[in-house]
Amino acid sequence: MLFDHELAWINEKIYNEIYKNSISNTADFWEYHIQSISWHKTPYDIFDHKTKSWLSGGVANVCYNCVDRHAEQTPNKPAIVWHGDEKGVRREISYKELQRKIVEISSLLLSKGIKKGDVVGIHMPMTPDAVASMLACARIGAIHLVVFAGFSANSLAYRLEMSNAKVLITSAETRRGGKPIKIKENCQEAIAIMTNKPELIVIDEVNLFNNLKLNEHLELCTDKDDLFVLYTSGSSGKPKGIIHSSLQYILYAATTFKFVFNIDPHDIYFCTSDIGWITGHSYITYAPLFHGLTIVMFEGTPIYPTADRYWEIIERERVSVFYTAPTALRSLQTFDENFVKKHDLSSLKVLGSVGEPINKKAWEWYFNVVGNRHCPIVDTWWQTETGGIVLAPLLDINNQKPCIAGKPFFGIKTDIVNTDSKRVTQPMEEGRLIIENNWPGMCRSVLYECEYSQKSTSKNQTCKNIFLNQYFEDNKFITGDGALYDEDFDIKIIGRLDDVINISGHRLSTIEIEEAIYKVNTVKDCAVVAIDHKIKGQTPFAFVVKNLVDECEDELKKSIIESIRKYIGPIAKPDYIVFVEDLPKTRSGKIVRQLLREIVMNREYDITTISSVHNKEILLSIVQTVSDISVN
Ligand code: WT7
Repeated sequence: MLFDHELAWINEKIYNEIYKNSISNTADFWEYHIQSISWHKTPYDIFDHKTKSWLSGGVANVCYNCVDRHAEQTPNKPAIVWHGDEKGVRREISYKELQRKIVEISSLLLSKGIKKGDVVGIHMPMTPDAVASMLACARIGAIHLVVFAGFSANSLAYRLEMSNAKVLITSAETRRGGKPIKIKENCQEAIAIMTNKPELIVIDEVNLFNNLKLNEHLELCTDKDDLFVLYTSGSSGKPKGIIHSSLQYILYAATTFKFVFNIDPHDIYFCTSDIGWITGHSYITYAPLFHGLTIVMFEGTPIYPTADRYWEIIERERVSVFYTAPTALRSLQTFDENFVKKHDLSSLKVLGSVGEPINKKAWEWYFNVVGNRHCPIVDTWWQTETGGIVLAPLLDINNQKPCIAGKPFFGIKTDIVNTDSKRVTQPMEEGRLIIENNWPGMCRSVLYECEYSQKSTSKNQTCKNIFLNQYFEDNKFITGDGALYDEDFDIKIIGRLDDVINISGHRLSTIEIEEAIYKVNTVKDCAVVAIDHKIKGQTPFAFVVKNLVDECEDELKKSIIESIRKYIGPIAKPDYIVFVEDLPKTRSGKIVRQLLREIVMNREYDITTISSVHNKEILLSIVQTVSDISVN
């Protein structure tokens, strides 16, 4: 059987063969791989072309697949090895213990009346309790909504309110970089400004589980049931809630994980993402536990108390697969190489990169210094919407190409199209990356602000229509990223083509930041563009027009930063704020951000296309202002 390829160290020839077949017989490919799921009822149909639905008739529980079945077979195997913020603080949780923890949390949720389809907010640090809380929701069919611990009370409140969350789970406290983080207070602040207030559960509160009657209930989920909602930013000002299915999602996350990283059950797997992002959902929680691996979780920052925390943990736990983001590599690369070299990293077999384009310098350091030239690097491209990895290189140590995301995963047909929507056929020609067919991991629907009044995550019809309009053109999924082929027709990602900014792998919209700036009364107008940054990849550059000409600029800058902290969180803080007299706009009043971006990046720009004299004057004055600032 061709799809029964246990070895994921697939060479190009085998890849091509499986890929070709997976495109012509997509349902057969997935039919083979659904066997890894423990079904209550096996689906009677893999893919229905008419309704574009996957796994019809399938019934299973995601938590059972990720934990219970392993708790039966390998009860004492560590499921999670957790390292705290301070060196040496370490805890091991076996599959059996994890199962017990999950049952406690799900029993508590049930006792509070939470049922299938209800939304449960999770605002927690990187602890086993956080993973257990997600799985407790999955166990009873509740939909979790994880909000990254770095988001402000306002952002948290917005997401909870939009998705009508019934309870919010948090922790009493957390530490990061040696400092306490007031996560519980952030939740209380969020609830205080909400209209429909969720009940707050502080998971590590003493006596919380005393006198609680354990309820082992496992909710059976069908192909129609959802697993979670996760907010991300698009081109519009307001974050949107991406909703993922249960069965289709776990199938896609688990299968991509196995192939892309060549997973075997003995792997010790360490992913440095946060559960607040899709990577933390698919490739910290769901896929690795589905395969019964031991996962390493780290609550602190890689440079506290010393810049070798990752390397020390890899050595201590004998990590074999390590998955991180380019921004972390760029930052760690600035420290002495000895921080890496003094640790024995020989257990590593595969290195992964995710979240943003990896630059050559960071790639080479990762390959040479961290991997000691014996670990292939998989540069994985995907999105919150795609549920799992879409592009990744082959694990071929003899054919490593820096900064190339490589090839589409089995069953996925990608394409690059140019501005006339014509398919790109030549290497090096840039175009828009699109996906031409359906895959199981594709998100089900999207929650928008306008839908809040309807308070529903299950009105698939309405959601779907909005969703289709936003992402699809002629049935093709528009990713929003630019890409090109290299000379071997492997795909290289250029970056976003829309108003999405990627700050240290955190996806935000420039319009969202502008809205936070507008909240400051004395701001008349503003424009935010993304510019390159040595460590963060990108950072916001804000142009601001003052209401009152003689207002103190330093004071206004402070208010702007404060407002961004308040409405989004510290991650969105611009590195540059400049005051200008006016902003260039099109006739219909749209700010010409692209031009501003080219000016600050010192790229070639062309103002001859700008028609009005007024705009030309504005631009020339902006060029003047910007030339005084040095941008790295
Ligand atoms: C955007 C999606 C992928 C999960 C975490 C981020 C950028 C992601 C890569 C990569 C170049 C990448 C894209 C994409 N991106 N991975 N390997 N190379 N760019 O998920 O927050 O939904 O962001 O991140 O621009 O569209 P996300």
